[in-house]
Amino acid sequence: MRDPVLQRFIEASEVAVMAAAEPGSPAEAVAREVFRRCHARVGGPSTVPPATLPVCGWLDAALDSTGDGPRRAVADALEAMAERLEWERRDASDPANRAFYDGHANALILGPGGYEERDDLWIGATLMAPGVTYVDHKHPPAEVYLSLAPGEWWNAEMDWTDPGMERLIYNPPGILHAMRSGDRPFLALWYLPL
Ligand SMILES: [Fe+2]
Repeated sequence: MRDPVLQRFIEASEVAVMAAAEPGSPAEAVAREVFRRCHARVGGPSTVPPATLPVCGWLDAALDSTGDGPRRAVADALEAMAERLEWERRDASDPANRAFYDGHANALILGPGGYEERDDLWIGATLMAPGVTYVDHKHPPAEVYLSLAPGEWWNAEMDWTDPGMERLIYNPPGILHAMRSGDRPFLALWYLPL
């Protein structure tokens, strides 16, 4: 049996992501595979203790931006789990990049070292204070982002784009990409099959 709040988070995520996915798109295929794996089996309990960072003080304001669409239930489930997650900086974050170092936190919800321990997918959250740009990064798996607060995304094939609360962002495998907040805190979820 999966933790009921986590199960609720997964089900609400699936509704919100699939509602926003363009039929036949690569994003839809990636999301479908991530949720298929979520339903196929339940992973192990978390092996990491909960942790927080000062930037987590922006979480409530970010969750208030989600509005009342299908993403509301996702935001509510995330809020219910938030204190049990390990919020941490990206590995090897550079303290000299003050805005980024102090202004972001990631929480791995399902995946290796996540709140649900498993090795076949990553589902996680990124929170950023206003006025922060996430460092350019890349990873082999394709990725779908669901925004829960305003923000913009960039990748090597896409100019800065705000998907709003209706669309998804899709990053093809291995592409260089980043995201940034404007004058409000940023909150988004990411879904990747491993
Ligand atoms: Fe990414």
